[in-house]
Amino acid sequence: MESGRRALLRTTGLCVRIGGVSIVEDVSLEVREGEFLVIIGPNGAGKTTLFNVLTGIVRPSSGTVMFGSRDITHAPPYVRARLGLGRTFQTSAVFAGLSVLENASLAARAYLGGSGALWRLAQRDHGALERARHALTLVGLEGRAHTIAATLSHGEKRKLDLAILLCGEPKVALLDEPTAGMAMEDVPEMMRVIQRIQREHGTTILMVEHRMDLILGLADRLAVMHHGALLAIDTPERVIASATVQSAYLGDPL
Ligand SMILES: Nc1ncnc2c1ncn2[C@@H]1O[C@H](COP(=O)(O)OP(=O)(O)OP(=O)(O)O)[C@@H](O)[C@H]1O
Ligand SMILES: [Mg+2]
Repeated sequence: MESGRRALLRTTGLCVRIGGVSIVEDVSLEVREGEFLVIIGPNGAGKTTLFNVLTGIVRPSSGTVMFGSRDITHAPPYVRARLGLGRTFQTSAVFAGLSVLENASLAARAYLGGSGALWRLAQRDHGALERARHALTLVGLEGRAHTIAATLSHGEKRKLDLAILLCGEPKVALLDEPTAGMAMEDVPEMMRVIQRIQREHGTTILMVEHRMDLILGLADRLAVMHHGALLAIDTPERVIASATVQSAYLGDPL
């Protein structure tokens, strides 16, 4: 990833303190347009909290969040989503009783919004269906469109989470451990799907992932969080070779 790419998302001096405890500590980070940036770090390092600040669920104690040239530090989550900041959660969140296509169409319809004349609503529904089908194809769920979500395998539910996210046309997708709890044999396919979303759909990816073997060959850059702070951010090769990272992880292998 060439360094000339513009920053799509940028944090400066971000801190989160809860009850006197520092959970995110002076994090300055930029996510460049089109890149695949992975955040690693041990349990409790503050990765999910950082995502919560980026998406507006948690207010930072200090620092700023910029989306392009816009300061979104105090913008509510729905404004950020409209600007193009999408996320999936560490646990799946689909409507269990609805079919795969219904789940995706609902997301697409919510994104397309609109109200008014019946013909316009019908047009929107048609657009939503198209968009939903396209997203399902991207994640490889087109053959499961009419399956009730509750009966999907865990891996398929995570793919549906991704399809729902894509229906909102995010510019940046924040993926919090998208392979969490997944059967090992489903993991490589999930990673291929995420790579396809970045390469073919042009979506910028910011992903939290624990498994180093999955990240190498995928990530353009790797960021390491430790005790709330950003310890390193560079190419995966350079981060792994970094003495700071090595010493922080001594006895706690990457
Ligand atoms: N609302 C909250 N109130 C108090 N403490 C919190 C809150 N949210 C997070 N924490 C604490 O902040 C720390 C960071 O949590 P966070 O979930 O961001 O870590 P993480 O890096 O995502 O960990 P994991 O790898 O386990 O998902 C943890 O010690 C957690 O207990
Ligand atoms: Mg987490």
